[in-house]
Amino acid sequence: MLVEEGFSMVSVDASDKMLKYALKTRWNRRKEPAFDQWVIEEGNWLTLERDISPPGTGFDAVICLGNSFAHLPDFKGDQSDQRLALHNIARMVRPGGILIIDHRNYDYILNTGCAPQGKNIYYKSDLTQDISTSVLWVNNKAHMVTLDYTVQIPASEESQPEVSKFRLSYYPHRLDSFTALLHEAFGGQCEHMVYGDFLPFTPGQETDPCYFIHVTKRTA
Ligand SMILES: C[S@@+](CC[C@H](N)C(=O)[O-])C[C@H]1O[C@@H](n2cnc3c(N)ncnc32)[C@H](O)[C@@H]1O
Repeated sequence: MLVEEGFSMVSVDASDKMLKYALKTRWNRRKEPAFDQWVIEEGNWLTLERDISPPGTGFDAVICLGNSFAHLPDFKGDQSDQRLALHNIARMVRPGGILIIDHRNYDYILNTGCAPQGKNIYYKSDLTQDISTSVLWVNNKAHMVTLDYTVQIPASEESQPEVSKFRLSYYPHRLDSFTALLHEAFGGQCEHMVYGDFLPFTPGQETDPCYFIHVTKRTA
């Protein structure tokens, strides 16, 4: 979508499968100049500075959405890997540039034991049949949330209708602690705003967003 809108894009993922999907899309539309110039790189957030060379003083915007960052587990139990990854990601942003990063509303999930009921901004929610939620606590601290999805896939020209079942596990970032991690990643040199499902968010508001989207501007 961003390539189509004319942005100059560098896309990064650590997974071969995901890169293959993006590379195929680029190849299929290679005759369009914007797609011909789309850069797709293999990169891991934990080694980003080695894997990616940002232009000049950094990118205008770094975007990490779709609850992607929550895929990074807390391997060591002290969030040091998540700190390192966020530090590396923040280093890619030029002074005056922004980082847009999101996570599910894990406060709601941890408080209630299930995901908020609102319309999911990223998926075709009308396809989602069921999500069941499990929370793993370690030493009285929420360590991992596992979502078991059951999705009804309608028939298409190529395939019969089917029920797809898959399981994904995430680190449950709370709004306040993730905000603190972001400030730390920018060495305090930032302005931070938070949105709920891409709308202005006020703590204690009536509706519970499904996702929190953090927009952090590097000030120096
Ligand atoms: C929800 S998917 C989003 C996929 C795609 N990049 C997009 O924006 O639509 C989360 C992605 O995060 C990637 N990911 C997880 N851990 C990563 C890491 N340490 N470094 C880079 N990418 C990672 C996964 O490979 C997965 O493709």
